[in-house]
Amino acid sequence: MKAFVAATVLACASLLPFQQAAAKPIEIKFSHVVAENTPKGQMALKFKELAEAALPGQVEVKVYPNSQLFTDSTVLQAMQLGDVEMAAPALSKFQKYTTKLQLFDLPFLFKDIEAVDRFQQSPEGQKLLKSMEGKLLVGLGYLHNGMKQLTANDPIRTPADISGKKYRIMTSDVLQAQFEAVQAIPLKKPFSEVFTLLQTKAIDGQENTWSNIYSKKFFEVQKYATETNHGLLDYMVVTSSEFWYGLPDDVRNKLKVAMDEAIVYGNKIALEKDSEDRQQIIDSGKTEVIKISAEERQQWVEAMKPVWNMFADEIGADLIGAALEANN
Ligand code: SIN
Repeated sequence: MKAFVAATVLACASLLPFQQAAAKPIEIKFSHVVAENTPKGQMALKFKELAEAALPGQVEVKVYPNSQLFTDSTVLQAMQLGDVEMAAPALSKFQKYTTKLQLFDLPFLFKDIEAVDRFQQSPEGQKLLKSMEGKLLVGLGYLHNGMKQLTANDPIRTPADISGKKYRIMTSDVLQAQFEAVQAIPLKKPFSEVFTLLQTKAIDGQENTWSNIYSKKFFEVQKYATETNHGLLDYMVVTSSEFWYGLPDDVRNKLKVAMDEAIVYGNKIALEKDSEDRQQIIDSGKTEVIKISAEERQQWVEAMKPVWNMFADEIGADLIGAALEANN
C-alpha cells in the first residue's frame, strides 16, 4: 500500500510542471509608437485592464508604447512572424499589405470625424477589416485619432507657401503624391524620428493630429501650425490571424468584447484630446495656430484633388463612393 501511495505521489509530482505550464496565461504583446497620454496609448491600457479582468489568470497583456518594442515599419512583419500579437498602426501604414486602405489618405475626403465613423461602421468599412487576411493580418476595429494639421517654421496659409519645403510623411504613396501636388518634398520617415528631424531642421515640417503634435512635443520645435484638417489619422487595431483564430473560442470572444469597449473609450479620449491638446499648444505660446479662410482652404482642396484620380483604380471607385456617401 505504502509503495502504491508513494508511486501515486511521484506520478502527481511529475505531472505538476505540465499543469503549471498549462495554466500559464496567454501573453499578448501590444506594441505601439505613440505616448501613453494619447487616444491609442489610453486605449491599449484600457484593453489590458478589461481583458485581464474578463480572463483573470488566463491572459496577460503587455503594452509597449513609444516604439519601445517595434516601429511602425517593422511591427506588421513581426506580427506575421509571431513576435508580437497586437498593434494599431495608422491606416497610412498598411500599403504593403493592401492598397484598399489608401482610401483613408485621400486629401479632403471626409468632412469630419463623424463622417469617418459612419464610413468605418458601414458594410464597406467593416469589410476592410478583413482585407489583409490573405497576409495573415486581421483587423479588430478602427480607432480615431483625428484630422491632420500642418506644422512648419514659416507661416503656411496657401499651397504656394509650402512649395520646396521638406515634409515628413508616413509610409504612404498617397501622402507622397499629396505633398508633391503642392510642390513640397515629402520624406517617408518613422514616427520615432520626427522630433529629432524637426529639431535639427533636417526637415521643415510635418503633418499630424493635435494629440501627436502635443504629446511628442513637435510644437516645441515648430513655430506655426496651420489648421487645415486636410486628412485623417486613424488606426486599425490588428492581430495575426494565426494567433487570433488559434485562441479558444471563449477567450477570443471575451477579448473581442474587451477590445470593442477599449475602442469606444479610446474614441472618447480622441475627441477630447483633439480640442484639449490644440488648446495646450496655443497656451504654450511656442507655436502659433493659424486658421485659414474658406478661400485659402479651397486652394488646398483644388491643388490636392488630382491625387484622387491617381489612386482611384487601386482603391476602387465603389469604395471612394461609399466614403463620400458617409459625408451626407
Ligand atoms: C501614430 O499616431 O501612430 C503615428 C503617426 C505618425 O507616424 O505620424
